Amino acid sequence: MRWRENLTFLRATRSELGLVGAIAPSGPALTRLMTSEIGRHSGLVVELGPGTGVFTRALLKRGVREKDLTLVECCREFAEMLQEQFPEARVLQADAGRLRRQELFQVGAVGAIVSGLPLLNMSTPRILTILRRAFRWMRPGGAFYQFTYGPRCPVPKRCLERLGLRATCTGRALVNLPPASVYRIVAADGDAEAGPAQCVELVAP
Ligand SMILES: C[S@@+](CC[C@H](N)C(=O)[O-])C[C@H]1O[C@@H](n2cnc3c(N)ncnc32)[C@H](O)[C@@H]1O
Repeated sequence: MRWRENLTFLRATRSELGLVGAIAPSGPALTRLMTSEIGRHSGLVVELGPGTGVFTRALLKRGVREKDLTLVECCREFAEMLQEQFPEARVLQADAGRLRRQELFQVGAVGAIVSGLPLLNMSTPRILTILRRAFRWMRPGGAFYQFTYGPRCPVPKRCLERLGLRATCTGRALVNLPPASVYRIVAADGDAEAGPAQCVELVAP
């Protein structure tokens, strides 16, 4: 089964490197870091850019119910593979930056969002749109998890400030191809876009 996924990933990378933004699916260390704070208690969970579903499988193992998962993947081949593997999940073959008009969730319904989106390849307005939408869905105390291969949080400071969000580095997965860091992004005052602009970027040792 995994060989088929890896082959699909390789094919997608070769044709759309900018879109896929990686040379291989995330490894076990990064997967652990990305999903460790999420479980059944999270309720509805959204995954943006799930690719071949490495984080999806980990979320299920952590107790998230398949029917509570919404997977947003723009690549058709990945989306079809995901729907086949996770028949009870809601799989949307869609651009995460263009979900605005789709009323996917009620305001404040989602407990966690896991993002594998290649934010470093996206413009600031696009990132702003994605996060604004995400935090409209998010319930109080919910968190957006994002990994990056870069040296700092891939969400520009001015985006965080504008939306009243705070990013904290939760750790680094050195044994990954390439090594990556994970950021937890939350509403700075528990109420994104309402309170005073804040930006605290804490980096774990
Ligand atoms: C770096 S890969 C991560 C895949 C998987 N989460 C992992 O960690 O192995 C990025 C994924 O995001 C998808 N993607 C890129 N841009 C997207 C967008 N605007 N909307 C939805 N998915 C997108 C790509 O097709 C790819 O599956």
